[in-house]
Formats: sequence, structure tokens, C-alpha cells
Amino acid sequence: MCADRSIDFTGIHFENPFLLSSAPPTESESNILRAFEAGWGGVVTKTIGLHPVVNVYGAKAKFMRTTPEDSNVSMKKRPGAALHSSWNWELISDMTLDWWAPRIRRIKEAFPNRVLIASIMAGSGSDKELKHWQELAESCQANGADGLELNFSCPHMDRRDMGSNIGKDSVLCSYVTEAVREVAKIPVWCKLTPATADIVVEAGACFRGGADAVVSSNTFPSLPVIDPETLEFEINVDGLVSSGGLGGPAILPMALAKMAQLTKAFPDKSFSGIGGVSDFTQALSYFLLGCGTVQVCTSAMLDQAVGPNIIKRLLSGLDNFIDAHAADGWTNIESFRGIWRDRIVLQSEIRRPAAAEYHSGYEGVEGYAAPQSDEVAAR
Ligand SMILES: Cc1cc2nc3c(=O)[nH]c(=O)nc-3n(C[C@H](O)[C@H](O)[C@H](O)COP(=O)(O)O)c2cc1C
Repeated sequence: MCADRSIDFTGIHFENPFLLSSAPPTESESNILRAFEAGWGGVVTKTIGLHPVVNVYGAKAKFMRTTPEDSNVSMKKRPGAALHSSWNWELISDMTLDWWAPRIRRIKEAFPNRVLIASIMAGSGSDKELKHWQELAESCQANGADGLELNFSCPHMDRRDMGSNIGKDSVLCSYVTEAVREVAKIPVWCKLTPATADIVVEAGACFRGGADAVVSSNTFPSLPVIDPETLEFEINVDGLVSSGGLGGPAILPMALAKMAQLTKAFPDKSFSGIGGVSDFTQALSYFLLGCGTVQVCTSAMLDQAVGPNIIKRLLSGLDNFIDAHAADGWTNIESFRGIWRDRIVLQSEIRRPAAAEYHSGYEGVEGYAAPQSDEVAAR
């Protein structure tokens, strides 16, 4: 019997919980059709905007690799080197909403049972910009998108009122979500930047604005390394570089930490996990922490641009996991989703060899009980 791979997430039925994230794999109709043919349960389109998009010279993503002998991380191709990460400073889709709208409709007609989420982005500095969010949302919705993902997370926008600059401001997160919510009849997901002090603050603002789910992580702010021979950044234009985004295996542990903060703070809310997934091994961590769906970019780019082998591995990994855990009663994702969430605790709650003498890192005070962990910060 075939394992039950399906999940209902924010009111949308997914045949399987794996999506291509908003990025080059989902930048065209032909890519998305190929992705669905390969078996992906859903896609999030490359982010669609209304403003002019002009990329820097050579904006294509590059891949960093590392070698076992010296742990050197470099974009240079070397024999025996393993993938470390992707680095990019690409902006959002340079195709217009008018270009996207009929394509969204055609893709949904071709694959009505697969999930198409439209990623959208506008500015935040004025009522006109909030109306842009609504225009994008209404058009994608009218053309059959199953949901919307608000991009509050691109780490390298050329405009200061966009992308992660919204995701770093909880008030803007609320305003924009609310504006989209006013017109959206379909689920609204907010994709947050990991580059803030406490992602729980911005997630709370999105949920107050009416978000159905929070998505994390986009790429982490980062720079390419400097070549020791040429003394140039491995990527540069006229010797100059600006902060770009790091994705792929290197970000998995950091993205998991962000996700754990989120799922612990909002155990009853919906989360889609992204960062460093190339097979079920990594996706499982996101499910055990509480995610209902998982998204993939870097590893899919390196597998024929849309990841036909990656989705095969994700699906067979899920099937095998469910088979192996039949005795635990884990028959589908929902039955093991979030069961490890409460294993992430404060450092002071981890067992010590000399537990009796330990007072959460503080001096014990004679005559008083040891402080409880939630009292420690107050003392
Ligand atoms: C070249 C490139 C372009 C991207 N463009 C977008 C985008 O337009 N919108 C968006 O929300 N995320 C974008 N992302 C971020 C990915 O969707 C994803 O969040 C990130 O790469 C982490 O996932 P990964 O570790 O599987 O790569 C882009 C990533 C890359 C590498």
C-alpha cells in the first residue's frame, strides 16, 4: 500500500508536502510545468512585483564548495569538492504581472491538483505601495493561484522599502499583511527574513495582520570570499560587491534554529520550512519541529534546474519513514509533525553532571530555593 503523503496546510490540500521555493526553479511556465511533471506537490512562483527590476551584471546565483583537505570555501570548481552553499544577489522576477497572470492560469489548468502559490512583493512607504500589494494579490488570485506568499525577506533589494526591510519592521509586517488580507480570499503566507534579533516578533505581527502561515528561511545575508591570489571578491562588478544571500547546506542548522523559535512560540500556527533541504533527512527535522510543508531551492537548481531527482528522493524518503514507523502509529505527516518541538529548551534546563550544585548559572543563595528558569532573567 502507498504511504499517505498528503497534508492539509492553511486550508490547501497538498498531494505531498514538498514545494519548490520562490527562486530560479519557478521563474517560468516551462520550469513549473516540468516541476509538476516531476512530482512536486507545489511551487511558489519567483517573486512577482510591479516596479522596474534591473539586476546587476552577472546576477546569476553561484555555488560555493568545500574540500575535505583544507575546509576552504570557494566558488572555484575543484575536484572532490562538496557543495557548501549557494550565493546570490539576484532581485525578484524581471517579468511583469501581465506576463505572469495568464501563465498562472494556464499552469493551474494543466495541473489543477497541484498547488501554485504566487510570491508577491511591493514597497511599503505609502498608501500607493499598499495598493500595489493588493493589485498583485487580486490579479494572482483571479487567475487561479491557490495562495499568496508575501516576500518580506529578500536580503538584497535595491529599494529600501522592500523585501527584508519590511521583514525587519514588525509594524510594516502587520500593515502589509492586513492590506493583502483585505482583498485576499485565498490563504496568505508571509516569508520572513532570518536577519532579525527575534523572528518571533515579526511573525507575531504577521499573524496579527491575518497571515495564515509564516515561511522561513530566505537566504542569510552574506558576502562572497576574497580570492587570495587576485585580492578580488570571487563575485564583483568593477571590484565592488554588496551583501547577498546564502542558501543551501550551510544554512540548515541556522534555519532550523529560526524555525524552532517560531514553532515553539506559536505551536498552533502553520509553518513552511526552507533552508538546506536536499533529501528527506533534512526535511524530517522541519516536520519534527512543527512544519506542515517544506520548500527547496539550491539543491533543485543543481538537479536539472527543477530537481526531478530531489523530489524523487524526498518522496521515497517520506514513504520509507512512514513504513518504518508504522508501529509508532505514524501514518502521515500530521501524526509526527511537531513532536520534537518541546525538546528545544533553555540552556539552563539541560542536565548537568553536578545538577544539585547548579542554580541556572547563578550563585546559589543560602536559605533560598534555586530560581525557576523563567524567574532567572528577572533577578
Ligand atoms: C538565485 C536565487 C534567487 C532567489 N529568489 C527568490 C525570490 O525571488 N523570492 C523569494 O522569496 N526567495 C528567493 N530566493 C530564496 C529561496 O527561495 C530560499 O528561501 C533560499 O534559497 C533557501 O533555500 P535553500 O537552502 O533550499 O536554497 C532565491 C534564492 C536563490 C538562490
